[in-house]
Amino acid sequence: MYILGIETSCDETASGIVKGGEILSNIILTQTAHSIYGGVVPEIASREHTKHIVSIVEKALAVAGTQFSQIGAIAVTRGPGLIGCLLVGVSYARNLGLALNIPVIGINHLEGHISAAFTDPDIEFPLLCLLASGGHTMLVVVNEFHKYSILGTTRDDAAGEAFDKVAKLLGLGYPGGAKLDELADKGDPNRFHFPLAKLKKGKWDFSFSGIKTAVALKVREFPDGEVPADDIAAGFRKAVITMLMSKLKEAIVYSRCKHFAIVGGVAQNSLLRNKAVELANEMGISFYIPDADLCGDNGAMIAIAGELSLKNNIPLESDFDASPYLPLT
Ligand code: KG4
Ligand code: ZN
Repeated sequence: MYILGIETSCDETASGIVKGGEILSNIILTQTAHSIYGGVVPEIASREHTKHIVSIVEKALAVAGTQFSQIGAIAVTRGPGLIGCLLVGVSYARNLGLALNIPVIGINHLEGHISAAFTDPDIEFPLLCLLASGGHTMLVVVNEFHKYSILGTTRDDAAGEAFDKVAKLLGLGYPGGAKLDELADKGDPNRFHFPLAKLKKGKWDFSFSGIKTAVALKVREFPDGEVPADDIAAGFRKAVITMLMSKLKEAIVYSRCKHFAIVGGVAQNSLLRNKAVELANEMGISFYIPDADLCGDNGAMIAIAGELSLKNNIPLESDFDASPYLPLT
């Protein structure tokens, strides 16, 4: 059965087609209209989704060599995310489902990211999943599809959000996570030391707001035009990635997982990807990080989650709505 996935929770209008675990297309339109504002403007984002959703879905069908009449089910992100953005995807999907007389599955965006790990042919359970994106940072034990135990989550900013904010401080524009990663390659990671918060309570939780302030204070020490942005970027990246990886390692030991995965937009980070190889070798366990276009927000991961929901007989809610604060349960 062909499954059509639709993702509009933030600033990517995205759609993908999967069949039998195989990704046949994954079309992602990252909205550029927000860059001049230095962050996502919710109202603009929903208007952009409205403008592009039809053509993105049509492109996903064309690239997969399919037609609407061949689609057996639609999977759509129902939350968490920006309400106006979610409403565009959910309304479109539900209307399309009615027109085609096929089921529409509401997918939790976080389960969508985790589902990208299910493209690993060697997946083993329980799996320790680090989900690091612009909106979330979580350590989750995946016992099987749809059975999660959340170990920890962020107390304030998400890892990707911290990357974006520091990138902005360094004049790299928005969205800046990927640009900061590139700049960090040119810098000295040991020139500046940025401490990360050690939380007294919530051993597995994360906090990134302190390091952001530390970077802001460091930037102010230099006159305009003389800020060593490359060294600051390298020091910041080293601190964040070291912290993510050390928590991941502790969580693997604690949960006795024999396999780990890293998903979400931050999983595109080059240092994180290298450190994952080192960690797997050091611990003698297997791991998986999806390809870049499955890490950031995309429609294929939502289609995969839809396909897994059907395969695992997860009860379908026929009357679901967009849900901006939907938790991962
Ligand atoms: O998963 P995603 O596309 O959207 C959310 O669900 O939030 O993640 C986007 C986040 C952004 O904050 C972006 O800066 C970050 O992923 N990101 C990166 C890199 N590429 C994207 N962060 C660090 N290094 C990268 N190479
Ligand atoms: Zn996301």
